[in-house]
Amino acid sequence: MLVLGLAYYFLPRTTNHEPRTTTMQRTPEPELMDDQQQAAAYANADFTEPHEHFVTLMQQAFPAHDFSGVLLDLGCGPGDITRRVARRLPEVRIDAVDGAEAMLMQGRRLTTDTDLAARINFIHGLLPGCRLPQAKYDGIFSNSLLHHLADPSVLWQAVKAHAKPGAPIFVMDLLRPESQQIAQYLMEQYAGDEPDVLKNDFYNSLLAAFEIDEVREQLRQCGLQHLQVEPVSDRHLTVSGYC
Ligand SMILES: C[S@@+](CC[C@H](N)C(=O)[O-])C[C@H]1O[C@@H](n2cnc3c(N)ncnc32)[C@H](O)[C@@H]1O
Repeated sequence: MLVLGLAYYFLPRTTNHEPRTTTMQRTPEPELMDDQQQAAAYANADFTEPHEHFVTLMQQAFPAHDFSGVLLDLGCGPGDITRRVARRLPEVRIDAVDGAEAMLMQGRRLTTDTDLAARINFIHGLLPGCRLPQAKYDGIFSNSLLHHLADPSVLWQAVKAHAKPGAPIFVMDLLRPESQQIAQYLMEQYAGDEPDVLKNDFYNSLLAAFEIDEVREQLRQCGLQHLQVEPVSDRHLTVSGYC
C-alpha cells in the first residue's frame, strides 16, 4: 500500500478533486451489464464505502423532507444503493429501473427484507423511452449509469422527462482520470482484491467516465445548467439540485 501511495504521489496530475482539463480521451464501454457472471460478481462485491458515501451525500445535499413520496432510481443494477436509500428514508417508495435483466434478477434476489421488497419495484426498462409505472416522480437519483451511456443526454433527458417540477435530483458517477496510469492506480487501490471481472469493469468504467466540464456542458445542452456539479472524491463527481 505504501508503494502504491508513493506511486500515486509521483503520477502526473493536477490537484485532487479540482476541475481540470484531462488529456485522456473517453473510451466508451458497453451500456448494459447483462452478462450473468458479470452481474453476479457486481452484486456480490462490497460497495459499502462508495454506496454509503452516495447516500450520505444525497442526504446532505437536501433537507431530509426533500426526498419523499415515490422516487425513481435510474440504472439501479442489483439495487444496493436502492436498498440503502430505502432504509434511510423509510417513508419512500422507489421505482428502480435497469435495462439488464441479469442485474434485476440479482436485485430481486438480494431484496429479502419484506419491508424493502414492498417498497422497491424493480422494473426492466431500457433508456431512452422505456415505460415506467408513473410519468412523473417526486425525486430522482442515479449512481454510475452516466458513464455507461453512449449518449449521456439519455440520462439528463430522462431526468427532465420524469421529474415533477421542483423535484430533487441526485446523481453520482465516476470521474475520468487524467491518464491510464492513474486509472490503473485507482483500480489497484479500490478494487485490487476483487475478482478480475470486477477489476476490469472498474478500470474500463474509469476510462468511460466523464470529466466535470463535460458534464456541465451536457447539462447546459439539456437546459439543466442550474444543477450543481462537483468532485467529491479522487474518483467521483456528483450532480445535484432541483428540477
Ligand atoms: C455500473 S451499474 C450501476 C448500478 C447501480 N446503480 C449501482 O450503483 O450499483 C450501471 C447499470 O446501468 C444499466 N444501464 C446501462 N445503460 C442503460 C440503459 N440505456 N437503460 C437502462 N439501464 C442501463 C446497466 O445495465 C447497469 O446495471
